[in-house]
Amino acid sequence: MSEFHALVPAAGFGARMRNELPKQYLPLAGKPMLAHALETLCGCGELATVFVVLSPDDAQFRTFDWARFGDKLQPLFCGGATRAQSVANGLLAAELEADDWVLVHDAARPCLTQAHLARLLAELRDDPVGGILAVPVADTLKRADAQQRIACTEPREGLWQAQTPQMFRAGLLMQALQQCRAVTDEASAVEALGLQPKLVAGDSGNFKVTYPQDIVLAELLLSNKK
Ligand code: C5P
Repeated sequence: MSEFHALVPAAGFGARMRNELPKQYLPLAGKPMLAHALETLCGCGELATVFVVLSPDDAQFRTFDWARFGDKLQPLFCGGATRAQSVANGLLAAELEADDWVLVHDAARPCLTQAHLARLLAELRDDPVGGILAVPVADTLKRADAQQRIACTEPREGLWQAQTPQMFRAGLLMQALQQCRAVTDEASAVEALGLQPKLVAGDSGNFKVTYPQDIVLAELLLSNKK
């Protein structure tokens, strides 16, 4: 029977946070940001393994005590130059069966909950393609010109913001990433194969910590979770 695994690319540098420490290790509610998503994923009974893909010269991971996560948490020191490369390298190192499901989740989305995971697993476990957590776009969208003036207003109907986890069969995802590396998420690579991943409605709480002010919001949400 096919198993479910998580794979967390955490080999980035987080340039937009303007910080020496890579984003995934910034302190957030008393622990490194990365620990929050890993804790939620390791706490999900359906997931057999939680792989975390780190930079080959990562010096931070071992400074934190991960013992309570047990053998379920598997660090892989094989991150690449881009997120897609880190995911592809991780998939290769994880040696999964082609039929196994992989839930790829950003280290920078610490507010993931068991409810998000349950919804994704329930909607996709029998799906022929797989899919992603996402939210319908709420704001009015403006396209900018070169002078940062509004060139036009884009209709937002039918537009969704992609989140993670993004859930695909390991074999399909590997094939997709081998053919298409210039992508910012896994779904784009699968789309390039001519397939249509499903959009599973999540919520805005599972946002990606990108800018310094996002830390405050994440801490607020995490304090409510407990
Ligand atoms: O930089 P961004 O927020 O898009 O990164 C999304 C996720 O991809 C983060 O968890 C980051 O650590 C990871 N990443 C990676 N390898 C890279 C670049 C980003 O694992 N080379």
